[in-house]
Amino acid sequence: MLKIESITKLQQHVRHLRRASKVIGFVPTMGAIHEGHCSLMRAGRAECDELIASIFVNPTQFCPGEDYAKYPRPLERDLAACEAEGVDTVFCPDADEMYPAGSATTVSVSGLTDGLCGAYRPGHFDGVTTIVAKLFNIVQPDIAYFGQKDAQQAAVIRRMVRDLIWPIKIVICPTIREPDGLAISSRNAYLTPEQRKQALSLYAALEYARRQIQAGRLKVADLTAEMRQRIEAAGPCSIDYIEIIDAHELIPKNTVQGRCLIALAVRIGKSRLIDNIEVDAGTSKS
Ligand code: PAJ
Repeated sequence: MLKIESITKLQQHVRHLRRASKVIGFVPTMGAIHEGHCSLMRAGRAECDELIASIFVNPTQFCPGEDYAKYPRPLERDLAACEAEGVDTVFCPDADEMYPAGSATTVSVSGLTDGLCGAYRPGHFDGVTTIVAKLFNIVQPDIAYFGQKDAQQAAVIRRMVRDLIWPIKIVICPTIREPDGLAISSRNAYLTPEQRKQALSLYAALEYARRQIQAGRLKVADLTAEMRQRIEAAGPCSIDYIEIIDAHELIPKNTVQGRCLIALAVRIGKSRLIDNIEVDAGTSKS
């Protein structure tokens, strides 16, 4: 496995690969590699000639007061995990490489970034789209892999790629969960054992709403109020949002209809946890 830290070196490597007509797959990450990241790498390994992963804790997507400084950076372990998944090349630049002094350009997707996490993390998605745009320009992937766990991020990146006419196929892979249902996240590490148990209430509430929808209950205000009650009953927490939205446009709905996303963000202790599931109200028994 190649480990490359410089943009110029990676560009050289990519030039060779493209000349040899290799299909390049790309998995961008912030490191602290877990099963969720590994599932994206496996998907990429299965369909690409060259699999490139990036490990970069991107400062511009953290808001003031968030965990940028404390974000876990176990680089040696991460490199071993990438190697075990058959990654060919890991790109791990430092912040000055990606944001040299005087950087003044931001890539921003409007509309889709207004609600959900965008409303609670101002500037976050600009940071994500700017770094992913830079990474796409360097790596020039044919296929890039993202997780459904970050559903809004996935929708925003799809839109950016479409709007900027990049010839990149975006593949969204399913959310990987712990056996008890908790969506895997590097931020789960901040939870105490007690909070870890409490955090199960998130997936339980999502599944509760899914069952209700499948039983024909389609009023969003009722469903989200019941989810809120269930999550609050599980222990102290602060709910950023619980929403049922259109799965493509991320627009809030009053009544569940068609393909919807049930999405939530909840702060428990030092962790801000997000999760979502998709439901198709077309399958409702009503
Ligand atoms: P990070 O949080 O490291 O996640 C990297 C990728 O792994 C994202 O596409 C995310 O959706 C996916 N992922 C995380 N947890 C997952 C899980 N439990 N199941 C499936 N996929 C999961 O997302 C970022 O980094 C950054 O915003 C990035 C895109 C790298 C830009 O800096």
